[in-house]
Amino acid sequence: MTPQNEASNNYWTIKLADIDPELWFTLLHLARLGTLRKGIHVSTSNLAKELGLSQQTASRRILELEARGYIKRSVGRRGQTIVMTEKGAQQLMAVYAILHNSLSNALKSIILTGEVFTGLGEGAYYVSLEGYRSQIIEKLGFDPYPGTLNLRLTDPPDLYFRELLSHRPGILIKGFSNGRRTYGSVKAFKAKIEGIDAAVLLIERTHYGHDTIEVIAPINLRQALKIRNGDKVSVEVQLI
Ligand SMILES: Cc1cc2nc3c(=O)[nH]c(=O)nc-3n(C[C@H](O)[C@H](O)[C@H](O)COP(=O)(O)O)c2cc1C
Repeated sequence: MTPQNEASNNYWTIKLADIDPELWFTLLHLARLGTLRKGIHVSTSNLAKELGLSQQTASRRILELEARGYIKRSVGRRGQTIVMTEKGAQQLMAVYAILHNSLSNALKSIILTGEVFTGLGEGAYYVSLEGYRSQIIEKLGFDPYPGTLNLRLTDPPDLYFRELLSHRPGILIKGFSNGRRTYGSVKAFKAKIEGIDAAVLLIERTHYGHDTIEVIAPINLRQALKIRNGDKVSVEVQLI
């Protein structure tokens, strides 16, 4: 993706058009059975009854969900056990986020809690690039400390809310090119972490999954808050 075709700042999210409604409802039912948390014994005939389908159609859907990587299935003597994958959960969360955004425009901020971990230290390099730094100063109102605080979200409510951010416009830090290579865009949200002004970044080109957020601030947050790897930290994220 080049900076030229970055008109939409939502391209790293799942859109409604990417969702197959029939499979989605099957996933929803599997979630209700508890497959988001652990492997659950699922009877195809019960599933068929719940969804008002023939048994053949229900088992076809299960196979299709497995083929798409939305569920993992193991078949034993007592039937099949199903657990939902992160990819499957993302399908559910995408619709949750769209619905949530449509129903609750009044929501002004959310709290995300995650576990601190150290990455490769690449965040510091990117934040210091003039192409990003000048936009952060202009659009977020502070000169960022060179480094990002990585938070891994583990609890489902935080993961859902993280998904919600994907569907908000946020503050767009545009990608750019320095002649040698291109840099991707970043969607930023103003935030507060223990009273300190900060911003949560959703980075287009990152090796982290949707369970990770990166936080920047004018100061070294690790030092200021005396936080270490494994600590849980909460960030209040402004949605507008
Ligand atoms: C503002 C910003 C812009 C970034 N842009 C890119 C990018 O264009 N390409 C890329 O491969 N990674 C980009 N990254 C992501 C980093 O590669 C990486 O995912 C992340 O910052 C890892 O930081 P850590 O190693 O400190 O955990 C960017 C990171 C930040 C903070």
